[in-house]
Amino acid sequence: FSLKDYNSFGIEVKADKYISIKDLEDLRTILRKSYASELFILGGGSNMLLTRDIRKTVLHIALKGKRIISETDKEVIVEAEAGENWHQFVLWTLSQDFGGLENLSLIPGNVGTAPIQNIGAYGVELKDSFVSCKATNVQTLEEKVFDLEECNFDYRNSIFKNRLKGQYIITSVRFRLTKIDHNLQTKYGAISAELEKEGVKSPTIQDISNAVISIRNSKLPNPKEIGNSGSFFKNPVITKAHFSILESKFSEIPSYTISEDEIKVPAGWLIDKAGFKGYRNGDAGVHKNQALVLVNYGEASGEEILSLSKKIQDAIKDQFDIDLEAEVNII
Ligand code: EPU
Repeated sequence: FSLKDYNSFGIEVKADKYISIKDLEDLRTILRKSYASELFILGGGSNMLLTRDIRKTVLHIALKGKRIISETDKEVIVEAEAGENWHQFVLWTLSQDFGGLENLSLIPGNVGTAPIQNIGAYGVELKDSFVSCKATNVQTLEEKVFDLEECNFDYRNSIFKNRLKGQYIITSVRFRLTKIDHNLQTKYGAISAELEKEGVKSPTIQDISNAVISIRNSKLPNPKEIGNSGSFFKNPVITKAHFSILESKFSEIPSYTISEDEIKVPAGWLIDKAGFKGYRNGDAGVHKNQALVLVNYGEASGEEILSLSKKIQDAIKDQFDIDLEAEVNII
């Protein structure tokens, strides 16, 4: 079974078998019959690089549905099943004027995989409106509700990427959204610039979503046209002392303060500065508008993308003494 259409990098690898999971009973039946080690869980396929055939049964989590759970005059709790497309879900919340997810518009992937790496963009992270998620233990079949605290969310990280990696399948997620007094996040430079360009003076959540959509469309390649997984690396955090050394050489280096002695620098800037923006070797390349995004122009193998990523890591280590960590899951 070819997985080419099931991973946003468009890598051609094969799986032994493919099963689409459309309801919880299906999921429980399969889990009861199989060992967890024989299964490979696939959500939206938008945050992974496949470098080899999957000698397992692929479970494609296709649980669908979204609903309002409860509401007050001010807030609403909504729930979506894991297989809902993230962006379609965001548009559904916006169509009802529910605020909180507008900055996360157009992020590829599904609702159920969004908590795993605490998706984030333009000053907002999933954890900011997350209430809880339901998940099934792949071994015991126990169904557990994880609240915000239990998920240990951090920058592109959660308990599902660490201690509980591979142990639970997230089946649905709940969010707390605003009905009035939306908490608009427009501080991120690119958003305020886009709103200004459009002449929007007092933005609505729909305006912010539209601004995010145009920024993403202008910078990030559409995975349907050019294979990619968004940011390939995390933005590294370095010490202030280390940053001072870099700043003395490159006065224009962008940065965000994290704590008293930690600074985050954009990996895209480092990769760009190292000369890789627009680089191409065969069908593996670095996107021309955003150096943090590695792309597959058609027939690149996972190994070729991986070897390009290693070449970039070596160059960044060499030139800036920084270790870049992959953000995508390498399989
Ligand atoms: N930059 C360059 N050259 C480049 C790319 C970026 O100089 O080729 C500079 C920009 O000029 C800017 C800075 O780097 O000063 C940051 O760039 P940008 O605002 O595009 O954001 P980013 O740090 O590259 C992060 C997230 C994105 C998210 C954006 C917006 C990570 C790993 N990436 O990218 O998330 O959309 O901020 O919030 O944190 C993703 O995770 O897949 C993703 C796309």
